[in-house]
Amino acid sequence: MKVAHFSAKKYDHGFFTNAFTSHDIGIEFFEARLSPKTAGLASGFDAVCAFVNDDLSKETIDVLADLGIKLIALRSAGFNHVNLAAAAKKNIAVVRVPEYSPHAVAEHTIALLMGVNRKIYRAYNRVREGNFELDGLIGFDLNGKTVGVVGAGKIGMVTVGILLGFGCEVLISDPALEPGPHKSGAKVMTFDEVLSHSDILSLHCPLTPATHHLICEETLCKTKKGVIIVNTSRGGLIDTNAVIGGLKSEHIGALAIDVYEEEGDLFFSDLSNFVMKDDVFARLLTFPNVLVTGHQAFFTREAMIAIAGTTASNITQFFKTGACENSVGLNLVSEKA
Ligand code: NAI
Repeated sequence: MKVAHFSAKKYDHGFFTNAFTSHDIGIEFFEARLSPKTAGLASGFDAVCAFVNDDLSKETIDVLADLGIKLIALRSAGFNHVNLAAAAKKNIAVVRVPEYSPHAVAEHTIALLMGVNRKIYRAYNRVREGNFELDGLIGFDLNGKTVGVVGAGKIGMVTVGILLGFGCEVLISDPALEPGPHKSGAKVMTFDEVLSHSDILSLHCPLTPATHHLICEETLCKTKKGVIIVNTSRGGLIDTNAVIGGLKSEHIGALAIDVYEEEGDLFFSDLSNFVMKDDVFARLLTFPNVLVTGHQAFFTREAMIAIAGTTASNITQFFKTGACENSVGLNLVSEKA
């Protein structure tokens, strides 16, 4: 069996070649993002392996179906970018990696929070220029602060554990949990209660129609002045224009994000020789209290080994049995919506 691996980066080659070879799966790496225009590269393959910013719209899926592709193997947990109805209609199965290292993402979340709070990126630049002035670098103790964790699944709960270790009071908002004390030591509350009590908000829920622009003008009005917002989940959870408004009015104290709603045309590429075309993103970068990383929260050795290994077992399981424990069905969408 042969798999066409789209959006391939140099760092993918070693991890995926090792895992696929041990499962006797052939692999060819394509740098191109999967889209209706590039889907033709999958001709002669049995499956495609896709990442978070590949285009898995109906148009792409129709081309893949015409080429006889039977499986879309996502090397991500999130699957909001796949038109599952179109895949089901064309009898193409979709599988994902539901868990690889919740620690990778949770630890990056804390790195972003600490980075923006203690202004590590500003200190780094100052010190390299021989400027040891502390003005503008003041932060606050995390100990004793109230942090709202929105979405207490695998990543959210690891984040909760780390924050409790810092001595934070942790509030959880998750429709799957009953309000009240949580066994972790956190408290489960409604989303509105979490918004109004938190000094820091950290987003860990999936992007679905129900969570799109969860942070918008209306919900920002319910947050405390000076709130810090951290998002390592999906860019679409935040209405970026509303957040820019909140930063300009100084209602938002700081923003730290690993994901951006229009990241598809930006992230995972070296654009340093090009003019920034996205004015909204460009505006974000002008704030001294905004820290952005380019969707790297997952990127640890442990996570890459787990992602490649699970993707290889998903493909093997599907082609041997016609089913896969990690398949993404339309039922999963409605459960998560
Ligand atoms: P998970 O499925 O274990 O947990 C998601 C939780 O969100 C569930 O407990 C669910 O009940 C809850 N939820 C659903 N709707 C909600 C709402 N409206 N409000 C609050 N909670 C809600 O998912 P996991 O593994 O913890 O991943 C979370 C998200 O992190 C993924 O959906 C993905 O988008 C993102 N992610 C980002 C990565 C990165 O590199 N930046 C890497 C991996 C995942």
